[in-house]
Amino acid sequence: MRVHRVADADEGGRLAADVIVGALAPLAHPVLGVATGASPRPVYEELVRRFACGDLTTNDLRLAALDEYVGLGRDHPDGYRSTLQREVAVPLRVPVDRLLVPAAWESDLDRAAAGFENALRALGGVDVQLLGIGANGHIGFNEPGSPLDGRTRVVSLDDRTRRDNAVHLTVATEVPRSAITQGIGTILEAGRLVLLAYGRSKTAAVRAALYGPIDSACPASAIRLHPDVVVIADSAALDD
Ligand code: F6R
Repeated sequence: MRVHRVADADEGGRLAADVIVGALAPLAHPVLGVATGASPRPVYEELVRRFACGDLTTNDLRLAALDEYVGLGRDHPDGYRSTLQREVAVPLRVPVDRLLVPAAWESDLDRAAAGFENALRALGGVDVQLLGIGANGHIGFNEPGSPLDGRTRVVSLDDRTRRDNAVHLTVATEVPRSAITQGIGTILEAGRLVLLAYGRSKTAAVRAALYGPIDSACPASAIRLHPDVVVIADSAALDD
């Protein structure tokens, strides 16, 4: 695992973009695993800048989401499908049919979760997976207690997660209570993981993830089971 200390999320964005472009450029059919939330936004902005100046080609790029809220509907602006379309796919000119998101708007959620796993497998898996980390140590929406070998499935969101995520809502009045998330086992199958963490609210989770026991009390600790991990964090998150 390589841990990079950066001054702020903008520097982290540039570094993560270097890692992503370096890993995906040689691939014929690259798949980038995309997270939502505040931490990856500067990464997307940097990727869009590189695309605009011709340093990044996205012709064959495919995008795969980590998770999606249950109950908002497929095209709700606060849903992750819409968010990733707006923040990543459209500016990078990736057609929407190349953005894979768990279909948490369907009535049979277990089927939607299994369908996502199958579609991911059909793509050949994720080459680079961007991850944020929750203040409670979650990755994706794998809250504390999640199995380290779990697959994509329906989960309930912790109260802390629902409170933290309320700031991202633009239209919905309430953060949904459940979601479909890639499981930790699914996440660990990506070729490379890039975990981003900024600010004091992440210090305890980052400490547990990097130095605590590898167990489901801190789902992010599972990244230490992966052979190719890049952690990009500021000093606040690294507890300096
Ligand atoms: C988002 C996701 C979450 C976030 C995490 C950190 O798709 O799966 O695990 O990455 O909650 O969110 P931010 O970056 O907003 O602090």
